[in-house]
Amino acid sequence: MKKIHPFTTILLVCSCLNVYSQQTGYKFQQTSLPLEERLEDLLNRLTLEEKVKLCYGNVTDNTADRFNSGGIARLNIKQIEMLDGPVGVRNFNDNQKTTALPSTLLLSCTWDINSARRYGEVMASEMLSLGKHVVFGPGMNLMRSPLCGRNFEYMGEDPFLTGSMAANYINGIQSMGVAACAKHYLANEIDNLRHYTSSNMDERTMHEIYLLPFEMAIKEGKVWVIMTANSLFNGIHVTENKTVLQNILRDEFNYDGVILTDWRAAYNTINTANAGTDMTTGFCAYVFGEDRLLNAVKNGEISEQLINAKVKNILRLYFRTGVMNEDNCLVGSINTDEHKREARKLATEGMVLLKNTANLLPINPEKIKNILVTGPGVTVVPSGTGSSKVISEISVTPLQGLKSAFKNCNINYVSYGSSKINLLLSNAKSNDIVLFFALGGQCGESRDLKNIELPDNQATIINKLSDNNKKVVVITLSGSVIAMDSWSNKVGAILLCCYAGQSTGDAIADVLSGKVNPGGKLSYTIANKLEDYACHYLGLWPQKAHAENIVPILPKAGSERKAIYAYDCDYKEGVFMGYRWFDQKGIEPLFPFGYGLSYTSFLIEKSGIDIISNKTDKTKVQVKIKISNTGTREGSEVIQLYIGETNCSVPRPPKELKGFQKVFLNTGEKKEITIPLDFRSFAFWSNEKNNWELEPGKYTIYVGNSSRNIAFEESIILK
Ligand code: BGC
Repeated sequence: MKKIHPFTTILLVCSCLNVYSQQTGYKFQQTSLPLEERLEDLLNRLTLEEKVKLCYGNVTDNTADRFNSGGIARLNIKQIEMLDGPVGVRNFNDNQKTTALPSTLLLSCTWDINSARRYGEVMASEMLSLGKHVVFGPGMNLMRSPLCGRNFEYMGEDPFLTGSMAANYINGIQSMGVAACAKHYLANEIDNLRHYTSSNMDERTMHEIYLLPFEMAIKEGKVWVIMTANSLFNGIHVTENKTVLQNILRDEFNYDGVILTDWRAAYNTINTANAGTDMTTGFCAYVFGEDRLLNAVKNGEISEQLINAKVKNILRLYFRTGVMNEDNCLVGSINTDEHKREARKLATEGMVLLKNTANLLPINPEKIKNILVTGPGVTVVPSGTGSSKVISEISVTPLQGLKSAFKNCNINYVSYGSSKINLLLSNAKSNDIVLFFALGGQCGESRDLKNIELPDNQATIINKLSDNNKKVVVITLSGSVIAMDSWSNKVGAILLCCYAGQSTGDAIADVLSGKVNPGGKLSYTIANKLEDYACHYLGLWPQKAHAENIVPILPKAGSERKAIYAYDCDYKEGVFMGYRWFDQKGIEPLFPFGYGLSYTSFLIEKSGIDIISNKTDKTKVQVKIKISNTGTREGSEVIQLYIGETNCSVPRPPKELKGFQKVFLNTGEKKEITIPLDFRSFAFWSNEKNNWELEPGKYTIYVGNSSRNIAFEESIILK
């Protein structure tokens, strides 16, 4: 019996085939037997050639086909089929358009783990409907610099927020029998030069910051697939890096899923196999393919035991997903009305109201009749370029969204351009309000930004418009941070929308009209200037090349490819990244991490702090918080809990996010919530002891609605 998920409104038969042939014995077909037993049994039926064949993707020039791998024809087991995420399913068949969800950067601004789960469920449903098994998402690299072109595919600057959102996104996908794939492991915070760049850091920085999201994806999300980055880590390509693959993922975290490579991440067969990589994919599939891995086993350079371990991981994935799991395979659906509604709802949930002088928003059509609409973002639905680009059936521009939401107002659209300045200014004077849709520089794969300035003179024009109308609202559409310092104090309101997916226009109109009360909070710091971010302050971006003759694009043919180590990206700021750095240095951000306004107001109060257990690794603390909606409409607030330790033997950030919860409240409603803390909430990674350590002493718990707006703080002593 196939199960039907609530998300499914159109019944499409999942293409999970009956994969079992008659002559192959019965044990691995018995779904009632424990997974590991079936696995072992199937492994024993495979020839060496068949085992090795499972360890690489199709070596082919056909793009769509490159996303498939393995399969055992003799046993009638089909290939495992994968597709890109992470911001919706990227399908290659134009006749089956998928849902372009808001960017995961926007998702992270919801600070809502339930939103992350729903996001994952939409993707899983579409994957099932396409008969696919693994979706390449979530993207879990951190926004160390606003210049990384793929920030829109990631989840902001904080490892705990990223890990929490990602774990729930993964649960959403995998609860439906589709595999999620956490990428790009590890510390791939730059894109253009990723193939040749080594991210260098100490153990503590790795464990506390860049590894933590992946640890949470494994321990809380139970993720089934991890993709290794194209880059190097501490001087060794991740794909060949035994320390971060075998020692950390397998030995430290007991990870039992598949480790596969990014599209160009592998070079050397023996090193890649020995480090712990299970499967080579894409343009580097040949590294385990073309008989290279097979011959290495035959020559005795690699043991069959090592191959068995890889094949077990891969078969485990086959059993976990629809490849072998027909009976439990859910029915999916694609691009349904329900998915469209979700894309729009999710987008509104993540939008962040940064400024709202004199309650300019929401726009009241009783009072505001004439709306000037301009800016380069008005007639587009911006998204990132590259592997995560989703082609959707619908694409609602801001202009379209406004026209359908404000039927009783005059929407006066003036197309954007410096040559139009006089027309724009005279219109600014004659209209009641100005909506300026600012568009950041194009973000995408291999498209790191050169700066964070708004292109095409937008800052100047926003300023001039503000000189002519006090009610200028700037709506920002971008894949990363954009500079706002030169105009933010002049405009009346700012709504941050990141890349908001296929329903961009409708979702923005929902918030501007007040149909939806914004509840998003920044998942990253917006600084006054680029140089305020740690890696720019310290001159660590871009890196200096230390090798010559860098081949800009890697040739595809195996014989021509060689690993190059050309750049060092030293993470010298250590754990002081994002708001941890701004707090430590006393740098005032323009809008701090965690910040975002609402159309209503809230009161956050302490209810109590209970130390339930005070014994190092058994530490358990509960923080009880009261929250009330003191305003005039329903809305949501994000309670954020940070911890700081001042007398530690190593320098620690003044405060770090260790818990959060989004709370929905009607007018006048009050709730009490509890945020649990444990050993890890207080511990730091000790480089000396090579382990987590909790030092006895005084810890301060800060609770507020942004990293810089603390409602109350209280110190506790841990023994
Ligand atoms: C990207 C990955 C992506 C893969 C397949 C690579 O270039 O870095 O994120 O999943 O291509 O499209």
